[in-house]
Amino acid sequence: MRLPPRAAILAFLPLLGAVLSASCARRSMPRAPDLPLVILDLSGTLLGRLDPCGCAANQKGGLATRKTFLWRRRATGAVALEGCRFLPESRWGLPYAELNGRILMRCLGKGGGGMDYAGMGVGAEDLLPGLENLKALAAKAQGPPLISCNILDGAGRPAFSPFRVVTKGEARVFVTSLTLRIPPGFPSKIGLLPWKTALATVLERAPAEAYRVLLLDGGTAAARAAARAFPGELDLVLTAKGDYNPTPGSAEVREGDTVILDPGSGGRFVLEVELTRKAGKTRLLRYTPYPLPPKEARKDRESPPGAITPDPAMMELITAMRCDLADGLALSEALARPAPARRGGYTGSRSCFPCHEASARAWKKSPHARAWAALEQDEEARGWPITLSPECVSCHVVGFGMATGFESPEKTPDLLNVGCEVCHGPGREHVKRMMRDPRDPEKAVDRAGDGGAHCFACHDTERQTHGHFHYSVKWKKIRHEEPAGWADRVKPKPRGR
Ligand code: HEC
Ligand code: HEC
Ligand code: HEC
Ligand code: HEC
Repeated sequence: MRLPPRAAILAFLPLLGAVLSASCARRSMPRAPDLPLVILDLSGTLLGRLDPCGCAANQKGGLATRKTFLWRRRATGAVALEGCRFLPESRWGLPYAELNGRILMRCLGKGGGGMDYAGMGVGAEDLLPGLENLKALAAKAQGPPLISCNILDGAGRPAFSPFRVVTKGEARVFVTSLTLRIPPGFPSKIGLLPWKTALATVLERAPAEAYRVLLLDGGTAAARAAARAFPGELDLVLTAKGDYNPTPGSAEVREGDTVILDPGSGGRFVLEVELTRKAGKTRLLRYTPYPLPPKEARKDRESPPGAITPDPAMMELITAMRCDLADGLALSEALARPAPARRGGYTGSRSCFPCHEASARAWKKSPHARAWAALEQDEEARGWPITLSPECVSCHVVGFGMATGFESPEKTPDLLNVGCEVCHGPGREHVKRMMRDPRDPEKAVDRAGDGGAHCFACHDTERQTHGHFHYSVKWKKIRHEEPAGWADRVKPKPRGR
């Protein structure tokens, strides 16, 4: 039956109103011209990082260190907020995201005697566990309140609180959060309101006498667009760019009156922020990206000033929850849906040795050949199942998450360590061809002479023991080549076992 036109218009009125108010000049509630000073402790883009991995010395962050820091800050009356993208990147797989989420929620929330976060933004990648599951995780662990102004459930209703208003002393803070797109292949039944509509609607409900903070699942350009679309209405946007370092202390970005800050990735910093508002102008009075000191000072250096000891109870909680991995669930699940491998797949470093004797000798002496042993030693030292955890194993083996790649030390002993095929690609086809005819012009192997682009996948900014990773310097440390005229002498030998 056709709806009478009047009813149809009525049905769409709320939506129409929202769209109109977003696109036309909005008649927003006038904001209070003066507000008392507010202190914010901001962090975000945690990406599931609980604790420094220990791959290199002097790493920052970790939730146990953060807890000590925030507890010290309690006397200041700061409002603590966590931005979007708290779960690990979705490529780690669902069970790992769930397990990690359970730990995170407890650490950040009340469940673990935690840190009293006033709110946490929800980014698209955080939706991997699905709406109901994510909410259940948060509820069970008494995690921080989840906020989003534009994520909708299957029935088209807001999936999370669209905003929160927090009062600390005299100051009030209105917090909302926004995500821009849901990645393809994510759980269905998640809807997204267009961002302008959602922000317009939620800002209309902001009290006149509160600061306004947007936790954005996006970068600086998106933050600028939001600030331009709502001039004078957003005091601060916290972005989630995934950049390693936070906005430097001297260089906060502005769009009109809106301050745009980025927390850096991995929870290595807490941004100490002070805002005031006088005569209708919001000012950033103080901004300090506070590095959470490393767990241990480097042996060759003195402890950094104001060193912070990680909270022992929090550390215990993290370790206990990580031990849940001992059943191997997360690892096997991360490996259960492998990506296809090129060229017939991986074969293991040993099958390269018989022909490439010189390269093999050099590799065996290199740190890459000890990468698995390093995990085993670390496991003993730190007391949690490191060799079963995808957050560690992935870079210390060959072909993690790939078909024919690493499965377990027992099933694929030849794929432990950073073996030949990490850099030269799956080698099954190369071996087959070279056995048949060493002069076959189709080598079916990666030369890897790309100036180190593929080294950075593992040797990222956080994992640099000896300063910046310069390819020319580092290559010399793992250099290998075959002697001149070698190829002509290659006689395929039986595969060494
Ligand atoms: C049966 C002998 C044999 C085996 C086994 C073998 N290779 Fe080779 N490999 C060769 C020959 C022959 C060449 C060509 C050398 C030339 O023409 O200069 C070659 C070349 C290469 C090159 C240089 C390619 C280029 O474009 O210059 C790389 C890298 C390489 N192999 C890696 C591997 C890896 C990794 C494995 C193990 C998965 C492996 N090889 C196993 C015989 C072999
Ligand atoms: C993104 C890839 C990556 C991940 C993930 C990773 N590692 Fe590493 N790991 C590296 C690299 C690269 C190095 C070498 C760093 C260097 O020496 O510059 C390394 C080195 C190490 C070392 C040797 C340090 C030394 O002093 O010799 C240990 C131990 C280690 N990692 C443990 C871990 C643990 C535990 C985890 C999980 C919490 C982990 N790794 C996750 C890439 C990774
Ligand atoms: C960490 C990455 C990495 C690992 C692991 C690695 N290689 Fe290489 N390999 C390289 C790079 C980089 C080059 C240099 C490419 C260039 O400069 O053209 C190279 C070059 C080679 C070459 C060509 C040498 C020549 O004389 O032209 C061969 C053959 C080779 N590797 C075989 C191996 C074998 C066999 C293993 C395992 C025993 C291995 N590689 C392990 C990165 C790696
Ligand atoms: C799959 C991850 C991975 C890739 C890709 C990788 N490495 Fe490594 N690298 C490691 C790990 C893990 C260690 C630490 C091994 C240990 O000490 O136990 C390491 C250690 C090293 C070290 C010794 C530590 C240092 O900084 O002096 C050098 C040198 C090195 N890698 C060079 C390279 C170069 C050059 C490339 C690229 C051609 C490369 N690596 C690619 C994982 C990787």
